Amino acid sequence: MMINKRLIALVPESRKYITANVVSQWVSLAANVVIMGEVAFLLGNAGAYFFDHKSEAADRAFDANVYFTAASICLIMLIIKAICTYLSSRFSYKSSKAVKKTLRQMIYDKILRLGASYTENASTAEVVQVSVEGVDQLETYFGSYLPQFFYATLAPLTLFIVLSFVDIWSALVLLICVPMIPMTIIVIQKWAKKLLSKYWGQYTALGDTFLENLQGLTTAKIYGADDYKHRELNTQSEHFRKITMKVLTMQLNSVTIMDFIAYGGAAVGMIVALVGYSSGRNTFTDTLFIMLLSADFFIPMRILGSFFHVAMNGMAATDKIFKLLDLEEEKSGREEFGRGDIEFSDVTFSYDGDRNVLNNISMKLKRGSFTAVVGESGSGKSTLAGLIMKRNSSYSGSITVGKTALADISEKSLYENVTYVGINAYLFGGTLRENLLMAKPDATDEELNRALHRVNILEFTNQNGGLDMKILERGENLSGGQCQRIAIARALLHDTDIYIFDEATSNIDVESESDILSLIHEMAKSKTVILITHRLANVINADRIYVLCEGKLVESGNHEELVNQNGTYASLYKTQSELENIRREDAHEEEK
Ligand SMILES: Nc1ncnc2c1ncn2[C@@H]1O[C@H](COP(=O)(O)OP(=O)(O)OP(=O)(O)O)[C@@H](O)[C@H]1O
Ligand SMILES: [Mg+2]
Repeated sequence: MMINKRLIALVPESRKYITANVVSQWVSLAANVVIMGEVAFLLGNAGAYFFDHKSEAADRAFDANVYFTAASICLIMLIIKAICTYLSSRFSYKSSKAVKKTLRQMIYDKILRLGASYTENASTAEVVQVSVEGVDQLETYFGSYLPQFFYATLAPLTLFIVLSFVDIWSALVLLICVPMIPMTIIVIQKWAKKLLSKYWGQYTALGDTFLENLQGLTTAKIYGADDYKHRELNTQSEHFRKITMKVLTMQLNSVTIMDFIAYGGAAVGMIVALVGYSSGRNTFTDTLFIMLLSADFFIPMRILGSFFHVAMNGMAATDKIFKLLDLEEEKSGREEFGRGDIEFSDVTFSYDGDRNVLNNISMKLKRGSFTAVVGESGSGKSTLAGLIMKRNSSYSGSITVGKTALADISEKSLYENVTYVGINAYLFGGTLRENLLMAKPDATDEELNRALHRVNILEFTNQNGGLDMKILERGENLSGGQCQRIAIARALLHDTDIYIFDEATSNIDVESESDILSLIHEMAKSKTVILITHRLANVINADRIYVLCEGKLVESGNHEELVNQNGTYASLYKTQSELENIRREDAHEEEK
């Protein structure tokens, strides 16, 4: 219970550092015993001079040689102690370093293996907190707590053996009192565990809120909701403060109890030694020796107790880390993407397990053809694209590429064959060149510029530093349309066989949009293009159009067929073209 075997097994490297740490602390203890022995010896001599003038010991009280030897021994022992202290902190540092590195690597690898769908199971804020703060908490567990755990068992036993030669009764009493400290720790641990898991829950909840509020700060300000968000955050912080205070109170109280036991136990040991002295069982020197060492019985356990709380914190974090590491992974497929058509058969999908967002979808996205998916907002178009990109995997029915199930295809091979451009493509902080090169690392500047030219943005980028143009995180120094055009240029460079454009041109001005659409139509001649849009005018040329309505596939066919069917598509198309005609006429009026 106090040692987490699984955790230690995760970082086998730490074992040797922990052992080395315990050994150096033990050597330091041995040196301390020698020093205390010398001190007791010298004081014993002095005492003998006052109480018992004519003994051998009393003579030694004035012998310079005795002092010289004692001083030399003490000096050597002090040097040994200093070296041991240094070594022990070195080993402690090394094991916590190994632990941090290994665990962070494991978490990172796990997130990579979970792939694009990790958010299905864990929030981003939680992942960040667990891997940064959570792993930090384990530093104390490995660096201090574990070595101390073994040392705190070893030290009293060693002292017991030494003191049993001096006065077995005192040694026994001291040894018996020591386990009272871990016993109180165990009792405290019982309810501390619940408290700490609550503490961590509150902590990650606060992190979630904070991250979200920070990301939505501008929006919150526009709607004057920043006050409300502020209060919300305050309430959560207050909860967090309260639970932190509870944790601290618990820790402080248990420290007081442990101090009481430690010093009380030492006092009892000393009393037994003194009684031994007054009854003539112990000599004066022996009694001093016992008294000087009695606190050392308890100090290691007492220190263990103080590490214990930080270690407990670490254990609570460990639960979170294991929860993350234990998340079930999609058996990441190994198959190649291949050249077959993408086929949905009877696919039903729900985000929350409650409401079906896609219902019994069966469709074939033919390779080499131009397919469009249209439908009202919320009809499930992006969700459909998300399934192809393996962002979600918990659908029923099957999605296959040729004869291979999509689930069996590796993410790597998927991304080598499919490029997705969504409505808010992500640009990274850095230069324009860096953003483009990620799609094709070996592209020449000329190729990059050609791609920019194709999306009508070359003129703008040339005026702003060319390929070395600075781009801020999320493309914040660009307009939405500019971001989008650069993202499409990047997609063009990626040169995959399949392209999915999901409302990719929605925030681009009309002229550029029609340029880019003709570019997409051009691409459709040599590539597989899946165009998701709600502007039906854009899909007239598509080989096949699928019409979604509330998660169901209601119609499919080419434009002509669908218009003749006189169904959903036809009426939508009519409404939209009427609207656009009115706009066009208005524009003509204004021109006149
Ligand atoms: N991450 C998500 N978690 C839960 N529900 C979601 C999520 N994303 C979308 N939905 C729900 O799934 C439904 C379909 O959403 P989807 O984004 O696929 O629509 P869409 O057809 O792409 O709409 P639009 O034209 O507005 O982009 C919506 O009702 C939406 O509420
Ligand atoms: Mg969408």
